[in-house]
Amino acid sequence: MAKTVVVVGTQWGDEGKGKITEYLSSKANYVIRYQGGNNAGHTIEFNNEQFKLKLIPSGIFQAEKVILGNGMVIDPKSLIEEMKYLNSKNIVTNSIRISNRAHVILPYHIKLDELLEELKIDQKIGTTKKGIGPAYIDKYSRTGIRMGDFIDPELFREKLAFQVNEKNELFKAHNKKLFDFNEIYVEYKNYAEILKQFVTDTSYEIDIALENGKKLLFEGAQGVMLDIDHGTYPYVTSSNPSAGAVTIGAGIGPTLIDEVVGVVKAYSTRVGEGALPTELDGEIGEYIRKVGREYGTVTGRARRVGWFDAVIVSHTRRVSGLTGLSINLLDVLTGIDKIKLCVAYKLDGEEIHYVPSTIKEFARCKPVYLEMEGWKEDITKVKKFEDLPINAINYVKKIAEITKVDVVMVSVGPDREQTIILKEIY
Ligand code: GDP
Ligand code: IMO
Ligand code: MG
Repeated sequence: MAKTVVVVGTQWGDEGKGKITEYLSSKANYVIRYQGGNNAGHTIEFNNEQFKLKLIPSGIFQAEKVILGNGMVIDPKSLIEEMKYLNSKNIVTNSIRISNRAHVILPYHIKLDELLEELKIDQKIGTTKKGIGPAYIDKYSRTGIRMGDFIDPELFREKLAFQVNEKNELFKAHNKKLFDFNEIYVEYKNYAEILKQFVTDTSYEIDIALENGKKLLFEGAQGVMLDIDHGTYPYVTSSNPSAGAVTIGAGIGPTLIDEVVGVVKAYSTRVGEGALPTELDGEIGEYIRKVGREYGTVTGRARRVGWFDAVIVSHTRRVSGLTGLSINLLDVLTGIDKIKLCVAYKLDGEEIHYVPSTIKEFARCKPVYLEMEGWKEDITKVKKFEDLPINAINYVKKIAEITKVDVVMVSVGPDREQTIILKEIY
């Protein structure tokens, strides 16, 4: 049985990672986020209640501790709002720990996110405009403000002064409103005061937890196809959702990861720009969007919908070393006569089984489909895999066969209870 498990999105995000992490967190002691920020939106349902999380790991309801790892970029205002939101629903948030090495998102990052999109002519990414990319730019240009700096008023003042000056130069050049150092400093110093008690060396805490035999669950945000290295660059996010990033983003060695559960939708969705080879424009696409409630948690945008793409999931299996799949939203396909599954691409007449690296080539890929029989029976109350309709079983087995990953879980509804376990992870 595993002690350390990674939950990773294997498509373009919104695969239901939050639901699966929350489900597994009844067995894990610590749940740790390792990348991204409040561009993520994870919806969780249990006991007839729905929760929407952005920054706080989905283990907050059941785990002993939840950690916001050093690989994250954290908007303090958004984090405090999220804590208050949970508290208002009687969920305690004392178990939160924030890495002192995580980077802070400040108001100029959000404006810069907007400006950078505005400046792009034909390659707008369609970002969530949460300042994610600009915060990672500062991290890699080694001028970012980390949580450890942020909670030290003097360090924060010094670093913020540099940042506001630098960013204002840019805004001035583009005739944008300038930021006032004092305004940001006063407001954000208050946030730092509130968050200070949660900030610590989380890698150190994780090490002690492991020594004490605790079980760890690492929660990815976004999905591997949005990975800055392995996704559909440039239509990606600015971090590495891929499982390998756990080691850097949480401060744990690669030798310590036992299992990687890839979360996948029974079809595909994507928010924002960039090709989606199996995209469905017609009636079936509309049907899936409606039944699957495919509207973004963060921005409310309609998600683009397509058939399941095994080329994509084979790619993510390879780059993330998946040891198991959780196939989610299987119930959404109920009632569709013939279900298509993309098994290869045709690129300029040639059949290929990999994801081309350039968006030009990727956009020219035409899906090669395998058609499977659908099912009509309501599956939302099914508890055991063998009780699913035979066509649903065949569909799940086909995905496992083509992607070469065992299916460990199947999800048949948004609620915690609507989860079928094929293999116990912990
Ligand atoms: P995440 O970002 O990967 O955590 O996924 P989101 O929460 O953004 O999007 C997944 C959506 O699907 C949410 O609205 C979930 O409540 C919902 N969901 C998760 N699993 C299932 C499922 O098996 N069936 C249905 N119908 N909805 C699901
Ligand atoms: P979860 O964790 C779906 C997408 C944006 C955009 C691109 C870059 O809920 O799965 P960014 O703001 O990150 O610079 O935007 O990435 N994106 C997501 N799409 N789910 C997410 O998170 C996403 N986070 C970012 O729509 O196309
Ligand atoms: Mg989401």
